[in-house]
Amino acid sequence: MYLLGIDIGTSGTKTVLFDTAGNPIASYTGEYPLYQPKNGYAEQEPLDWWNATVDGIKAVLGKSGADPCDIAGIGLSGQMHGLVMLDKDGKPLRKSIIWCDQRTAAECEEITSAVGTQRLVEITANPALTGFTASKILWVRNNEPEIYEKCKTILLPKDYIRFMLTGERATEVSDASGMQLLDVPNRRWSEEVLDKLSIEKSLLGKVYESPEITGQVTKFSAELTGLKEGTPVAGGAGDNAAAAVGTGVVRDGRGFTTIGTSGVVFAHTDRLSIDKKGRVHTFCAAVPGTWHVMGVTQGAGLSLKWFKDNFCGGELKEAEKQGVDVYYLLDKEAGKVPVGSNRLIYLPYLMGERTPHLDANARGAFFGLSAIHTKYDMLRAVMEGVSFSLKDCLNVLIGIGAVPNTNSAAKRSDCEYSQESPNPYPLNPKPFEMLACGGGGSSALWRQMLSDIFGIDIKTVKSKEGPALGVALLAGVGAGIYKSVPEACDSVIAYSERQLPNNENQKIYEKYYDLYKKLYPALKLGFSELANLP
Ligand code: XUL
Repeated sequence: MYLLGIDIGTSGTKTVLFDTAGNPIASYTGEYPLYQPKNGYAEQEPLDWWNATVDGIKAVLGKSGADPCDIAGIGLSGQMHGLVMLDKDGKPLRKSIIWCDQRTAAECEEITSAVGTQRLVEITANPALTGFTASKILWVRNNEPEIYEKCKTILLPKDYIRFMLTGERATEVSDASGMQLLDVPNRRWSEEVLDKLSIEKSLLGKVYESPEITGQVTKFSAELTGLKEGTPVAGGAGDNAAAAVGTGVVRDGRGFTTIGTSGVVFAHTDRLSIDKKGRVHTFCAAVPGTWHVMGVTQGAGLSLKWFKDNFCGGELKEAEKQGVDVYYLLDKEAGKVPVGSNRLIYLPYLMGERTPHLDANARGAFFGLSAIHTKYDMLRAVMEGVSFSLKDCLNVLIGIGAVPNTNSAAKRSDCEYSQESPNPYPLNPKPFEMLACGGGGSSALWRQMLSDIFGIDIKTVKSKEGPALGVALLAGVGAGIYKSVPEACDSVIAYSERQLPNNENQKIYEKYYDLYKKLYPALKLGFSELANLP
């Protein structure tokens, strides 16, 4: 038997056919453009996602020679938050306004004043955010009323693919959490928020738990893709929730840190924890009845890529000559620089910052530059600065009780415990399992840095398929191949050796992190003044 995982990402759609032991049998990625008609706008064409999905399914069936009758289920994952609006015939009315689009500041104010700051966080577990779907819906209503008028269905990106495959208008709790219309504690649409924002509930799909079967492949999509009519399609999950399943982060006491373009520190939690200050996102997890909390640093891998693209032309040529990845050469050089980068600290706020500062005006900085510093000191400082910013994320998660404080993981004062959100692990801290993933997570140097700076062991997973594997496993649960999501993960996911914190490095990094934390407050006013300069 096989399981199919489809991940509708921002740069492309990855389709992977797995056997039931989680081994990838065949894989295909179809790419498509991102449209940026104005500064801060980001849109994609829903039909591009569908065409990439059809190509992907045909390609993996062709490459593997698998009999479509042996595909037990399909799981869908993808970029969260994107707004897809369909007319009465199920045709897209406009391009999708996607997660990184920033046009909706005015609509976020509209949402906050309609629902109330505190009530919004209580119900949707997040403050009004430009990235989330609700403000995009209001933007279309305010700016393109003739389109809003014709809209009969609102879907998220992967749920549009579900609609094309099965004809069903449905979503599942993890992705729906990013719409700002879901009652996250109770895992259903919030009548109160919908009422206050005057959005008709009939526009939205039915909400399922992630492993539930939401529909079957229709005759139409079977003919187009080569799949068997009637193949079940499970709920699936938003990209981070799906990655959590694909890395086995499905139980209390487990989390992962991803260094992709942005960086995420993610923790699974069986109890609902919400940050009243809105510095981290709380979403329903793909394991029924549980949640996850995640902090986001905007410029993680992006910082290293920026440094490489602007200052490492020589290394790029050398890498080409040696036939190796340029990041491998950069890692080797950064590894020769001592811990602390010879007293140089980097702030990774190239794209403003989400966790913990929520400041779109924040910008990057090198602090402590001296004539002794070389390019490679700056390189290591970039990697360390990103890791400090990820430690800020971890500390917010500890502060709201989503991650136990292992004592070495964070100093009590770092975590801002408050009466409103007492740490539920005060007396009996238990070990926390942290994985490193994404491009940055494949660097042993970066993993060691995270281990030293977080003060906890870091492991990594052997499979590189993350979200696609995660939703294939969810489909396997829905199809009855595995009993539960944690059981599916136990039977399939393999881990590499753990890396332990080095005591000496840890002590040095504590001092650097103390100073790092003082820099943003000292520069905050300067950042907003800078934003107003001509
Ligand atoms: C989550 C988020 C991203 C997108 C794009 O809040 O903005 O993970 O889903 O990948």
